[in-house]
This record gives sequence, structure tokens and C-alpha cells, in this order.
Amino acid sequence: MTARFHAVLFSLALLIPPSGASLLAQTGSYPGLPLNTGKQIYQAACVACHGADGKGTPESTAGFKKPDSFPDFTRCDQTTAEMDTDWKAVIVHGGQFRGFSQIMPAFGEALTNKQIDQVIAYLRGFCRVPSWPRAELNLPRALVTEKAYPEDEVVATATLNAQGTPGVENHIVYEQRFGVKNQIEIDMPFTFQQQNGTWYGGVGDTSLGWKREIFSSLRTGSIFSLQGEAIFPLGNKSRGLGTGVTTFETFAAYGQLLPGDAFLQFQGGAELPTHTDVVPQSLFWNTVVGRNFTQDKGLGRLWSPMVEFLANRDLATGAKTDWDVVPQFEVTINKRQHIRADIGVRIPATNTAGRQIQVLFYVLWDWQDGKLTEGW
Ligand code: HEC
Repeated sequence: MTARFHAVLFSLALLIPPSGASLLAQTGSYPGLPLNTGKQIYQAACVACHGADGKGTPESTAGFKKPDSFPDFTRCDQTTAEMDTDWKAVIVHGGQFRGFSQIMPAFGEALTNKQIDQVIAYLRGFCRVPSWPRAELNLPRALVTEKAYPEDEVVATATLNAQGTPGVENHIVYEQRFGVKNQIEIDMPFTFQQQNGTWYGGVGDTSLGWKREIFSSLRTGSIFSLQGEAIFPLGNKSRGLGTGVTTFETFAAYGQLLPGDAFLQFQGGAELPTHTDVVPQSLFWNTVVGRNFTQDKGLGRLWSPMVEFLANRDLATGAKTDWDVVPQFEVTINKRQHIRADIGVRIPATNTAGRQIQVLFYVLWDWQDGKLTEGW
């Protein structure tokens, strides 16, 4: 055991004694160390494990085996994907609270709320590239409307017909970020439907897309992105699983944080099939309003009720706009909050003839935050 390891144990012993901790918090002082700035707090309480440079002390001196998810605070790609409240949850309640290693201690007793906010602000300074979009702008994903934030996600969706012809359409959507502002996306549908008493199923028209964030600001709480995608006719047309036509789609997506944990998202764009005699061109305009409710004083499970208003109009003379309303809620499933689910109902509001009420559902896995089995 190294002297450094003893130093870690010693400083931990100072931090965590059940009775002494609250005293420390009240006096705001650590034996002999001022705790007035984020830097001072970091130097006193965090540096032994996280290192003066924020990259983490070497394993040989830290005295513990680093988990794969051990943070390097200089890596903007890792840190900007976490919200301040995600970090606060771990600092206040310890690693286990979010399904991380218990080596990360709880500081909720040893440090005041203000000191924890100060040390988080200090941690943010380790990322030197301010253009990375911040996770606070990563608004809850609605069932239909695409969001502006570039993501590392796998989403499995299901759409079930609640009336009319029995059928279910599943999508596997894979999203991966690259660079500071980009994301690629592959969306593969699998459809199962009943036709004349027989069930048919198979792969549908599959799309490949590229999203780019154009503007984001934590100060104004807004993010704006553009996406272009090509939808390839892989689905069997005669079975009704595909259109038989290659289609290009382009859209703009905008997210806005509102006071009181509310938020607004817009997505507007066009579907441009290459053979418009088969499938008409169309425009769509989707809006989401919602609000976040967080358990455990803003650090625990997240519930996000939302309503989507979906408009779709074929670009043909005399065509009418189809309006749908989709009430729903998203909830985080596990402690780490990187697995989430959303359920809602899509209700046609205009031109309802031949358009069915559908039940929509997804499970989302933010794979950058850990394996499916981690964080429970
Ligand atoms: C005894 C060593 C130790 C000390 C002291 C320590 N940490 Fe940690 N910290 C860890 C470990 C280990 C992890 C990684 C946990 C994991 O990924 O399972 C971690 C993870 C974190 C994370 C990342 C959570 C996430 O969402 O990825 C933050 C933020 C953090 N620590 C902040 C702090 C702050 C601030 C302090 C000081 C007030 C501090 N730590 C003190 C060991 C420590």
C-alpha cells in the first residue's frame, strides 16, 4: 500500500464519519483547508481519486480498480452528455445511487448544497471546448417527433393498431454521435399485419440519416438541428410492407427549455419520394409540449408527461391536413436513467376516416452510459 492510498483512506475517514460529516458541513471547513471555491473543494475532497487534472489518479496511487465508467473530466464527449443534476445525484448520494461504483463516496453530509454546486461548476471547467451541446438540452424523446440533440441511443418502438386491421409495426433505431455536432441514424422497421385472415411480416423501408446540430445554447435553453435521410424501399410492396420507392426526407428540429421544468420541441420537414406518381410528396409539422417531474428532490427518477400534435399534408391540390394528438409519458426505468420507456396513444383528430387509433410504445437505451445490464 502506498502512502497516497493511506492519504485517500485518511481523507475518506474525514469525509464520511457519520457524526462528523454534518458538523463539517455546518462549519463549512475541512481541518486546515478552506472550502470557499469550487477549486478548493475539489482539491480537498476529490483530487485524491479524480486527480488535479481531472483525468483521474493512476490506479497504482488511487488504490482501487477504476470502473470502465470512471470519468475523465477533460473529455467533453463524456462530460457534456451528463447533466449537472446527474452529477449532483452521484456527489450527494454516492455512486450507488445511480448504479455506479460505491467507491465514489456520498458528500451530501460533508458538503453544503452550495459547495456541491461550486465543485460541479469547477468540474465543468475541465472541458475546454465550449461548443459541445450540453445534456440539459437533451429533452425527453417523444414517440413520433424527432429531437434536436445528437444522441448515442438504441430505441425499440412498437405501434399497435387499437382498431381496424390488426397490425403491429416495430422499429429498431440506432443512433451514434460523431464529432462534436453530428449523428448518424439507421431506422429499420419490422411490420406484422393481418390481411384476409393471414399474418404477413417482414422488414420495411429502411432509412439512413445524418443529423447536425446547427446551434445550441445552455444560456437561452435552445438547440436547433437539421437532418437529411434516405429511405430505401427494402419492404415488400405487394405485401404492403413498403412503398417500393426511394424517398428523401429532410427536417429541422428545435428544442426549447421553458421555466418550471417545462419544454417545447418542434420538428418540421418534407418527405420527397423519387416517384411522386406512386407516393405523393408531403410536409409534416410536429410539436411536443411537456414537463419533467423528478423524484428525490430533483435527483431521482424522472417522469415526463408530454402531448404531441402531429400535422401531415400531402403536396397535392385539395389535400387536407391530417392532425393527430398523442398524449404520453416517458419514465426512466433504472437508477442510471440510461434506460427509459414511453407509452402513449395516437388519436386522429381530423380526416379520421380510415385512420385508426394506435398505441405507441418505446424502450430507449443510451448505450454510451453503460451496458443494458448496468446501472440497476
Ligand atoms: C475514493 C475515491 C473518490 C473520491 C474521493 C471522489 N470520487 Fe468521484 N468517483 C470515484 C469513482 C471510482 C467514480 C466512478 C464510478 C463508476 O463509474 O462506477 C467516480 C465518479 C464520479 C463522477 C461521475 C458520475 C457520472 O455520472 O459519470 C462524478 C461527477 C464525481 N465522481 C465527482 C466527484 C467529486 C465532485 C468529488 C469530490 C467532492 C469526488 N467525485 C470524489 C471515486 C471518487
